[in-house]
Amino acid sequence: MPLIAILAGDGIGPEVTAEARRVLDALSLDLTFEEALVGGAAYHATGHPLPPETLDLARRADAILFGAVGDPSCDTLERALRPEQAILGLRKELTLFANLRPAKLFPGLEDASALRPEVAAAIDMVIVRELNGDVYFGEKGMRTTPAGLREGYDVMSYDEAEVTRIAHLGFQTAAKRGGKLCSVDKANVLETSQLWRDVVIELSAQYPQVALSHMYVDNCAMQLVRNPGQFDVIVTGNLFGDILSDQASMCAGSIGMLPSASLDSAGKGLYEPIHGSAPDIAGQGKANPCATILSAAMMLRHSLGNPGAADRIEAAVGKALIGGARTPDLGGTLSTVAMGDAVLAHL
Ligand code: NAD
Ligand code: IPM
Ligand code: MN
Repeated sequence: MPLIAILAGDGIGPEVTAEARRVLDALSLDLTFEEALVGGAAYHATGHPLPPETLDLARRADAILFGAVGDPSCDTLERALRPEQAILGLRKELTLFANLRPAKLFPGLEDASALRPEVAAAIDMVIVRELNGDVYFGEKGMRTTPAGLREGYDVMSYDEAEVTRIAHLGFQTAAKRGGKLCSVDKANVLETSQLWRDVVIELSAQYPQVALSHMYVDNCAMQLVRNPGQFDVIVTGNLFGDILSDQASMCAGSIGMLPSASLDSAGKGLYEPIHGSAPDIAGQGKANPCATILSAAMMLRHSLGNPGAADRIEAAVGKALIGGARTPDLGGTLSTVAMGDAVLAHL
């Protein structure tokens, strides 16, 4: 029986993860669940944001359902002890190099989007974000310049193997969808991006069925709000993908709607909403659980070989929204639990 690790984390993480768990339980699948502390919760209990027991569970599990990490009371700790290191550590330790972040507008949410309804309605895309490299994992530190000034630095780099493995997934994802891949970089300024672009162009010969384009990240940020419907699949680096996916979420109605899958090359995955621990609304029952519920659906599809159950969850979310179920981020008044109830009612 597949083992699911539930790492709920901090802030709204436990609130939204509980709703995803209720949905999974309601499907009566043959799954076992094991929970562990992660992030600030783990730091406060054990002195480390990613304790060995938690990493061990993540390794043993067939899939991981993750809430969010981040705790303002930890923001002044040395970096290695901060909650965010837990998710970065899991991504790196488990070689979860590929982050799929689908962004589509569920019918009925046109009025929740920050864009005009007719512009918003067209968004249906996947951001394929590289997750193991880039400026996130380069050498970093604080030092003093010869002039005696404090200086912070973070080295940005990609090697060609890292670009190759994520680019293949970008092409494959596009080939299975609308056949369009847009590679987003900053090749006009960054050597990292020049290599990225060169490698993507070299690989494109293997995917004649995919129409490849290139876009600078600043233009992409603009195009996402001008006309998000032009994108099918975007493939991009770790930092650009982080920023563009939060932006895409507001085109689709709310950051509380976007799920994600972080995959290794063998199909093992960590599934989490793209949002964080939202300390401003934590503990108030205001969080939208849909992104986490939809992440559970991605888990069933990508790691557990159960696309039928994934379809059922996605359909139930869609029906709940068409029926008018809305948390405050979508302009409604439902609590997190009531939104979970609405999804369960349509399962
Ligand atoms: P955030 O995503 O937590 O919140 C940004 C805004 O969106 C807030 O106003 C929040 O209330 C709102 N929001 C987020 N999720 C929501 C939901 N499900 N329903 C309704 N509203 C929602 O980003 P932030 O405020 O920049 O970061 C807060 C903490 O989370 C930080 O410590 C950050 O490092 C961490 N973080 C963690 C992850 C992760 O665990 N993968 C992702 C992003 C941020
Ligand atoms: C995300 C988050 C993380 C990231 C942080 C918390 C390390 O913003 O998952 O999108 O930057 O990848
Ligand atoms: Mn982010």
